[in-house]
Amino acid sequence: MADYDLLILNGLVVTDTETGEYDIAVKNEKIEQVAPRGSFKDATAKRTIDAEGGYVMPGGVDAHVHLQEPPLFGKGSTADNYETGSRSAIAGGTTTMVTFAPQRKSEDSLLDILKATHAKAENNCYNDYSFHLLVSNPSHRALSEFKTLRAEGISSLKIYMTYEALQLQDGEILDVLVEARKRKITTMIHAENGQVIDWMTAQLEKRKFFAPKYHAVAHPEMAETEATYRAISFSEFIDAPILIVHVSNRAAAATIKNAQDRGLPVYAETCPQYLFLTRKDLDKVGFEGAKCVCTPPPREGEEDHDGIWDGLANGTFTVLSSDHCPFRFDDAVNGKKTCITDEFPAGQFKYIPNGIPGIETRLAFTLSADRLKLNKFVEVTSANPAKLYGLWPRKGGLVTGESDADINIWYPAGKLEPFALKNEMLHHNVDYTPFEGKVLNQWPRYTILRGEVVWDRDHGGLLGKKGYGKFIKRDASCLAGSRQEGEWDIPE
Ligand SMILES: *[C@@H]1O[C@H](CO)[C@@H](O)[C@H](O)[C@H]1NC(C)=O
Repeated sequence: MADYDLLILNGLVVTDTETGEYDIAVKNEKIEQVAPRGSFKDATAKRTIDAEGGYVMPGGVDAHVHLQEPPLFGKGSTADNYETGSRSAIAGGTTTMVTFAPQRKSEDSLLDILKATHAKAENNCYNDYSFHLLVSNPSHRALSEFKTLRAEGISSLKIYMTYEALQLQDGEILDVLVEARKRKITTMIHAENGQVIDWMTAQLEKRKFFAPKYHAVAHPEMAETEATYRAISFSEFIDAPILIVHVSNRAAAATIKNAQDRGLPVYAETCPQYLFLTRKDLDKVGFEGAKCVCTPPPREGEEDHDGIWDGLANGTFTVLSSDHCPFRFDDAVNGKKTCITDEFPAGQFKYIPNGIPGIETRLAFTLSADRLKLNKFVEVTSANPAKLYGLWPRKGGLVTGESDADINIWYPAGKLEPFALKNEMLHHNVDYTPFEGKVLNQWPRYTILRGEVVWDRDHGGLLGKKGYGKFIKRDASCLAGSRQEGEWDIPE
């Protein structure tokens, strides 16, 4: 019998805290040992991979993924289901994803939603997964279910400050925060002022501005920064940890940094679209700009990108997620073109389904850009999402005896010719990528999930099996939480 299931030799191992020449031994789906190069030269294994000096990192954890959601805003529904979305994930090195289980305002219970979402994912996933409950109706019943959610392995929720179909009133946000604090649940917040966006939309339509590019104008930075400040104020008042999702602009980032410097448990996320796209990408001939319509919109230009990179480097951003929220482009039934009518041949920006695909490209883009220290890259794309959402140390690390053997092996320097991305290279169920033609110099060469090679780019590509991915029960966040013990009460 072999000593190990898998040996990974000659890699440069990078975690969130360490970089070094180590070899890795895997057994029974776990990291059995990480030892200096050469330590396993007399050992036997069912399979051995020579990393040839390439980076060996923990598998990616993407904590912001929309799959197979019901139409929440009228027309349009997500192009990827659990099968195609998770397939795309592993082909890009994301071994764990946390998707949304969305509650509609007409629905009372969260537990029913959880059950229905389990049914969609079960036996369909290529990677490991969990869910965030998306709360749009914090009814008495929904709030009373938070305790059971924790027992079911759900330790995070998401709420919205915009979109009529999902938006909570300020008092409802406070209700959620009080109960979330009590149950040690992290609340993710989409921070944009919905009324400001509606008002701006009306202003634009009055002037007969309907093209996709006006989506960016309708979502001014001010609406994001104001809501970010308000969310932080509520979090501070209730002493409840929050994460502001998909932060796109420097003023919002500075507001978050200020809260963090004051010691508040305020966390933040950004996404590749705020590093690589600008509002000019929405300004294309005809309807083409709709391919890059997402919310918040990509901002002005390089200075904004630099500010977001700085925020990643200096810890303002805890996590870098994809916000994978795909709609097919050339699709008038469920996709972007549902907003085209005879009266509006170039569509109406306010009805364009919001969101772009990106689960497969998140890691390769960020590593190819070569702007973060390697440990920081692992921290924001893998270790921190695992820590914040209660998956650590099982996910996000290479901890002996504790971590699942979820591993990405990258190409050693000089081995991969830089190449231009084409949508046909991707494994999602979307007919475009907003990043067509982008030149990359890295891509995961091998992706390993619980000891199984599920992606081997040069020998067969996708090797994983649908249904191998499992639901992972999550614990409370292991990053700093509420500063006071006990339940919230009216301050004396
Ligand atoms: C960190 O990044 C944020 C976001 O870009 C920025 O506002 C802040 O000034 C930076 N802080 C430091 C100390 O560099």
